Amino acid sequence: MGVRPFVAPRPVEYARVPTPVIDSSAPAHLPPGPRPRVPGEMLWRFQRDTPKFLLSLRDTYGHASSFYLNRQLFLGLFSPAMVHEVTVAQQSSFIKGVGFERMRKVLGEGLLTNEEPIHLRHRRMMQPPFHKSRLDGYAAEMSDVTRQTMDTWLPGNTIFLGPQMMRLTLLIVARTLFGTDADRYTDRIAHSMDIAIDRIERTMLPGLDRFDSLPLPYWRAFHRAADDLAEIAEELIRERRLRGVDGDDLLGLLLALRDEDGSSFTDDEVRDEALTLILSGHETTANALTWAFSWLGGRPDVHDALRAEALDQDWVTGDAPATVADVMSCEVAGQVIAETLRMAPPVWVAPRRALMDLDIAGVRVPAGAHVLVSQYVTQRDPEYFPDPHTWEPARWTEQLHASLPRGAYFPFGAGTRKCLGDQFALLEARIILLHAAARHRLIPADPEHPMPKAQPRATYRAEGPVPMVVT
Ligand code: HEM
Repeated sequence: MGVRPFVAPRPVEYARVPTPVIDSSAPAHLPPGPRPRVPGEMLWRFQRDTPKFLLSLRDTYGHASSFYLNRQLFLGLFSPAMVHEVTVAQQSSFIKGVGFERMRKVLGEGLLTNEEPIHLRHRRMMQPPFHKSRLDGYAAEMSDVTRQTMDTWLPGNTIFLGPQMMRLTLLIVARTLFGTDADRYTDRIAHSMDIAIDRIERTMLPGLDRFDSLPLPYWRAFHRAADDLAEIAEELIRERRLRGVDGDDLLGLLLALRDEDGSSFTDDEVRDEALTLILSGHETTANALTWAFSWLGGRPDVHDALRAEALDQDWVTGDAPATVADVMSCEVAGQVIAETLRMAPPVWVAPRRALMDLDIAGVRVPAGAHVLVSQYVTQRDPEYFPDPHTWEPARWTEQLHASLPRGAYFPFGAGTRKCLGDQFALLEARIILLHAAARHRLIPADPEHPMPKAQPRATYRAEGPVPMVVT
């Protein structure tokens, strides 16, 4: 194995990170935006609740606005047309922005954090394991693991929904990735992922990653966690190579993948991709489910409709294996998830850096500017989603799907950087919701505060463990 991600330099093949636009040299014709009245005001407002801050920009200044953090220029671009330009039409004029550098220390050159030209080669190779034809196999595994978790939820008990969902989705992704080989590592993976996610999420402020190498216990734990995850993945790869690379799980597939020219992934590349799938494949889905169950707790009508749908499914009530066709025919579950991903998008912002001067739907974006498009903001646009702050799954009719312009709803991103696991996640979320609804109803343990508070970090998560009573 080569260099571990935590200390690996940025590959020379990538575009150079552009010089930021500093307030004193900013061009004229920027969109309007807040300017601090006292030093540090902007940092404070931004950090306190970033999604709300971005929403307030849209409400005050409209679809485009500008502001400075650590003197560096940021542009918030929120109309669907702007989202489409940034994520699809002009995507090759951007690299990924703030936050991704720190993520690279854990995920190396995996799909989430890599850049062109490495990204497209990896993306092409990684597509087949996520092809529709493979999803039936994953569905059966997801359903089995979910049943085992649900067996531990006993009526009258209080469960901590946040950690339960995190554990369940981690088990699912580890099983589909490594088969049962991963079982003996699950606790270690959960422990190190926890530390890594916490440190990655600390802040979106530009330039703060230079503190990561300070010899403080807090940051040393980050380095140790990143190395531990790399070590686990390397061990699993070594064992699998010794046994021969076959295996129907994702690791077997990753090791057997061939590019058009016959070349395969190196072991380092497989390691980075495996860690990327674990990280991007569990926290997001867990957060979405935590929000969905929380909203369902206050909407017995939707819960009852979901339960009726679940009880109609052989794979929920009997021993039939779950198939994609069956799971995806469950409309109420689909609506619950679509609406949850609208209101509480696990990935609520896509930070980018402009590589050159650009025109984004009429807004001039100078090279080096940080650009933020935000699922949280755009998916609350009253023009497309009347009463946008209300959770209402029934709004997801066929007409709504058909009427939305490109860029209005993008919980999984768009363009070549669109989520690789979107179908996997939708399938998994439906399976967990339906199994749960058939057996239990979850009621908030504290009726005074039925909905958890948001704690937006790298993902849009609920604050605290979210206690719920199983009925
Ligand atoms: C509800 C659950 C999920 C949500 C909301 C979500 C959302 C996203 C978003 C918005 C992106 C694009 C990020 C950007 O443009 O900066 C992304 C990328 C990605 N996601 Fe997901 N994701 C979810 C679940 C999953 C799962 C289950 C997997 C894998 C098993 C996965 C694997 C990936 C990968 C590999 C990428 C990088 C793709 C690339 O750049 O080529 N995600 N995800």
